[in-house]
Amino acid sequence: MLETIQIQTSSKQYPLIIGNGIRHQIKKIIQSLNQKVSSYFIITDNIVEKLYLNDLVKVLEDEQVFTHIVPSGEEAKSIDHYYACQTKALESGLDRQSCVIALGGGVIGDLAGFVAATYMRGITFIQIPTTLLAHDSSVGGKVAINHPLGKNMIGAFYQPDAVIYDIETLHSLHDTEWLSGFAEVIKHGLIWDKNLFDDVCKIKTMSELKNSNLNSILKRAIAVKADIVSQDETEKGIRAYLNFGHTLGHAIEAEAGYGSISHGEAVIIGIVFAMRLSEEHYNVDLNINEIKHWLHSLGYSTAIPEKLSPERLINRMKKDKKAQHGKINMILLKEIGIVENIPFHENTLYTFLKKEIEGGVG
Ligand SMILES: NC(=O)c1ccc[n+]([C@@H]2O[C@H](COP(=O)([O-])OP(=O)(O)OC[C@H]3O[C@@H](n4cnc5c(N)ncnc54)[C@H](O)[C@@H]3O)[C@@H](O)[C@H]2O)c1
Ligand SMILES: [Zn+2]
Repeated sequence: MLETIQIQTSSKQYPLIIGNGIRHQIKKIIQSLNQKVSSYFIITDNIVEKLYLNDLVKVLEDEQVFTHIVPSGEEAKSIDHYYACQTKALESGLDRQSCVIALGGGVIGDLAGFVAATYMRGITFIQIPTTLLAHDSSVGGKVAINHPLGKNMIGAFYQPDAVIYDIETLHSLHDTEWLSGFAEVIKHGLIWDKNLFDDVCKIKTMSELKNSNLNSILKRAIAVKADIVSQDETEKGIRAYLNFGHTLGHAIEAEAGYGSISHGEAVIIGIVFAMRLSEEHYNVDLNINEIKHWLHSLGYSTAIPEKLSPERLINRMKKDKKAQHGKINMILLKEIGIVENIPFHENTLYTFLKKEIEGGVG
C-alpha cells in the first residue's frame, strides 16, 4: 500500500506519495493518475543522473523517454539552462501530452517546474525529489529560475500533477545537504506544529536523524507545508509564515556568496535571529539558549558571520520580494507553533541586527 498525502490547493489537488524505494514503482504510480502521457522528459543534474536516472529509465522502458542533464547546483537555475531545456524539449518533439519529470533536489524541481509551466503554456509535471530539503520545495507549486539581480525572480505558481518522494534516495546525500534540509523540518515544527518540534528536538545528532523514523517526521513536516499552501496558494497571507528565518537567511546566503553557506544553514541563523527579535517584540522567553545548544549539537552554527555588514544585510532584506512599502516583513514567533507577520521599519531592524552582530550573540 503506497502512503499518500493529498495536497489541496485552490487550483489543483494532487498526491504526494512517500516511501522507501518507490522510484522503482513510478510507472504504476503515474498510470494511477489517469493522465494520458505521450512522452516523458526527465530533467536531472549530473550528480543525481549517476545515482538514479537509470532506475527511472528502466521502469519507463516501454515509453518514449527523453533526458536532459544540467550541472548540479544553483547555477542550473539560469535563463541559459532554462532555454536549453526548452530547446531540447522542442527538438525532442514534446507535445501538449508530454510530461516533465524533475528528478533531483530543489534546484531541479524549480527549474523543471518552470520549464513545464511554460512549455506550450504548461504541460504535465511530476516531481521526484531526492533531497531532504525537497520535502519543502516540491510541495506548493513555486517554480522559478534566478536573475543575476535576484534569486527566484522569474517564475510562476505551477502545481505538479504528483510528487513521488522516495526517501531511500536521501541516504546518498552529503552531510551538508542533510543539515540544509533539516533546517526546513525544524522551521515547519516551529511555525505550525509544536508536537513535531518537540519530537525533532529529541534528535540530537545528524547520524541519529539518518537512522530516525524519517518517513514519519517528513510526513508531518510535509503536512505543515500542505496545510499552509492549501489555505493560501499564492501567498496573499499566511503562506508568508513559511518565510520564517528566511528574510535574514536569504540575505546571509547572498552576502556570504551562494555555495559558501547552504540555504538551510543560513535559514537556521535567520531563525535564531527572528526568535531573538520575537522575544524582544512580545516580551516572552522562547528558551533560545537551550534551542541553540541543541542546534549546535546537530552541527549548525547560529551566529551571524562576523564578516557580514549589517548595512549590506539590511539592504538585501529591503530588496526581498516580500518587503513592502519600505517596511521589512519579519515572521515572528509568539510561542512555539504560532507565528505572525510583523512589518519593521528598516532603521529599527538595523539597530537590532547591528547589536546582535556586535554582541557576537549566537
Ligand atoms: N519552490 C520552493 O518552494 C522552494 C522551497 C525551498 C527551496 N527552494 C529552492 O531549492 C533549491 C535548493 O534545493 P536543494 O537543497 O535540494 O538543492 P540541490 O537541488 O542543488 O541539491 C543539493 C545537492 O545535492 C545533490 N543531490 C541531490 N539529490 C541527491 C541525492 N539523492 N544523493 C546525492 N546527492 C544529491 C545535488 O546534485 C546538489 O549538488 C534552491 O534553489 C531554492 O531556491 C524552492
Ligand atoms: Zn527555505
